[in-house]
Amino acid sequence: MRTLVVGSGGREHALVWKLGQEAEVFATPGNPGMECECFGVATNDYAGVVALCDRLKPELVVVGPEDPLVLGLGDRLRSAGFPVFGPGAEGAQLEASKAFSKEMMARAGVPTAASGTFTDPEAAYSYAQSRFDLGRQVVVKASGNALGKGVVICPSLDEAAEAIAEMMVEGAFGTAGQTVVIEDRLVGREFSLLSVVSGGEFWSLPVVQDYKRALDGDRGPNTGGMGSFSPCEWVMPSQLMKAEELIVRPMVNQLVRDGIQYNGVLFSGVMVVDDTPVCLEYNVRFGDPETQSVVRRLGSGFAELLMAAARGEALPPVEVTQDCAVSVVVASGGYPGSYKKGVPITIGEMPRGVHVFHAGTAKREGVLVTNGGRVLAVSAVGTSLTEARQRAYDGVEKVQFDGAFARKDIGQVVAN
Ligand code: AMP
Ligand code: GLY
Repeated sequence: MRTLVVGSGGREHALVWKLGQEAEVFATPGNPGMECECFGVATNDYAGVVALCDRLKPELVVVGPEDPLVLGLGDRLRSAGFPVFGPGAEGAQLEASKAFSKEMMARAGVPTAASGTFTDPEAAYSYAQSRFDLGRQVVVKASGNALGKGVVICPSLDEAAEAIAEMMVEGAFGTAGQTVVIEDRLVGREFSLLSVVSGGEFWSLPVVQDYKRALDGDRGPNTGGMGSFSPCEWVMPSQLMKAEELIVRPMVNQLVRDGIQYNGVLFSGVMVVDDTPVCLEYNVRFGDPETQSVVRRLGSGFAELLMAAARGEALPPVEVTQDCAVSVVVASGGYPGSYKKGVPITIGEMPRGVHVFHAGTAKREGVLVTNGGRVLAVSAVGTSLTEARQRAYDGVEKVQFDGAFARKDIGQVVAN
């Protein structure tokens, strides 16, 4: 099965690695760690990606990142006749617009935090005030994509006022913050549920958890994710069933009712509040670094699954092994703030069961160098989380570059 993966991050490397066990895989633009032929076409060069597909004639195209999906790459490739794993621009609004997503959740009856959507800062402030008057705290969210920085948890009205002003008056996130969603703050543990969707049908991959904060013990600023592990033993089978029943199934049905064709992954950010799963958000792509741990736990059938979803066919089961997986991100000093690029990296021999997924790396004159904030993920499997964790951290020791840092508690304490 000829497969093209579009993207260059850690998530795409994990997809290339897994799909490569079952299919002939190519990537664009790819990254230096990928075990496949990579082409130089950027993810935002839509005509270039279509031209590459005309040449390669893939039987499956997997679009990794959200931006090209939001901007319609999936639609373009589908209309050019290629089976695409990834929703079209309409479905991708579930991630691109929190206002749209909350409205869809309301119509589908999905449990989620009470919220209001605002384009006027005064109205936003009054709403926040009314929630504090009721004894609640709020979360102020830029409706559009603000690169993971557009969510501000506000324990006080002053902090809410500041976040509203920053987004709506000062324009800190440009157009992404012109509309804000103000939600009640919920408290609970979080997990990620990645469900492969084919029309009205879905199949959920193993539950996985990531760590959003930069520092040990869930301190420091929010990041794209500093590590992940799977399985999450604290998620009871009944809670998982409820999450599928209350969060995934109703949204899949709503997409069908609204005539939005959806062939791709629906990523539900779930918080368990008083034993009940509540939806914090949907994403329309695989999680990063969740995917790095999820693929390590899969047996055979992943390529067939994505192919079936891309074609809108019935979804075949995928083998899930008993292995436990832990993935630890090694980041550039300063991330998620400013950091240096072009720093030489050395990677020693990895212990058994460990694989390194590249994310922000590049090759300069034959030398592997850093090229992003999250540089790579060291991903390990073992028969227990403890074993996987030990192996992952043994692997992290073998990665060296100036300024490198990693959280030390991935897979150990339950995040959030
Ligand atoms: P989101 O991009 O909406 O998933 O938000 C990013 C992170 O902010 C989530 O993973 C949570 O940790 C936190 N968060 C979002 N919404 C809420 C909420 N209503 N209550 C508490 N924390 C939240
Ligand atoms: N790790 C969270 C995300 O991919 O959005």
